[in-house]
Amino acid sequence: MGRLILKDISKKFNDFLALENVNFEVEDGEFVCLLGPSGCGKTTILRLAAGLDSPTDGEIFLDGKKIAGTNKECGFVFQEYALFPWRTAKGNIEFGPQVKGCSKEECERISRHYIDLVGLRGFEDHFPHELSGGMKQRVGIARAYANKPKLLLMDEPFGALDAQTRNIMQAELLRIWEKEHISVLFVTHSVDEAVYLADRVVVMSARPGTVKEIFGINLPRPRIRTSPEANALRDAILRSLGSEIKRAASI
Ligand SMILES: Nc1ncnc2c1ncn2[C@@H]1O[C@H](COP(=O)(O)OP(=O)(O)OP(=O)(O)O)[C@@H](O)[C@H]1O
Ligand SMILES: [Mg+2]
Repeated sequence: MGRLILKDISKKFNDFLALENVNFEVEDGEFVCLLGPSGCGKTTILRLAAGLDSPTDGEIFLDGKKIAGTNKECGFVFQEYALFPWRTAKGNIEFGPQVKGCSKEECERISRHYIDLVGLRGFEDHFPHELSGGMKQRVGIARAYANKPKLLLMDEPFGALDAQTRNIMQAELLRIWEKEHISVLFVTHSVDEAVYLADRVVVMSARPGTVKEIFGINLPRPRIRTSPEANALRDAILRSLGSEIKRAASI
């Protein structure tokens, strides 16, 4: 299970209205991408879903339970790496399983699996300051996966990666998503990435952020990025997003 419902969400920071009346859902096992101009409130939505902050109005539910306080059933991968600097790559990945009370052997089995998955073999014992930006991001991703969350919240997780690693990580994410049956809410600035990954794409308006349009991506997987259907969807999403980016620039 992992059904997220955002119901009439508004968020004010003092007098500043960042989000207004946001309504959408991530169905159990669904992959939803969130697109919108910079500053429209995408990260704020993820923080609210993670329970790191609370909405000014409205409610958020995960599997029918209202989110209040840090949501332990979520895994997050944020724009900034936010690794524990005093733990090695392996130690960061094992954090979730340790908190859950897994045995030492089980923690090691989990961390080995995810270290291989994200291509960090040989760097297990490096501390974050000894890793490149892309490697730190991969540790963050492995740490989120290792927690076996019901819902994965990802904020531009592949933005700092080179194009080739990014393609590999996208394919791996889809593999994990299909295998482990998790729901994913994924923020990106890349329409191409959204059309490759998502079941549905939520396009947000310029601030105050609200849902402008939702596109269903009913293309079979694995997807061909350059198929005529993918191109047509990309064009439609770009048009919807483009007008909001222009509007954001003029606010
Ligand atoms: N803690 C905070 N205090 C005050 N204002 C905030 C806070 N967090 C976010 N904001 C404001 O809310 C708005 C939305 O911010 P948010 O980070 O959610 O945007 P975003 O859509 O993720 O942008 P980007 O695409 O650039 O990452 C911005 O105008 C930002 O300045
Ligand atoms: Mg953001």
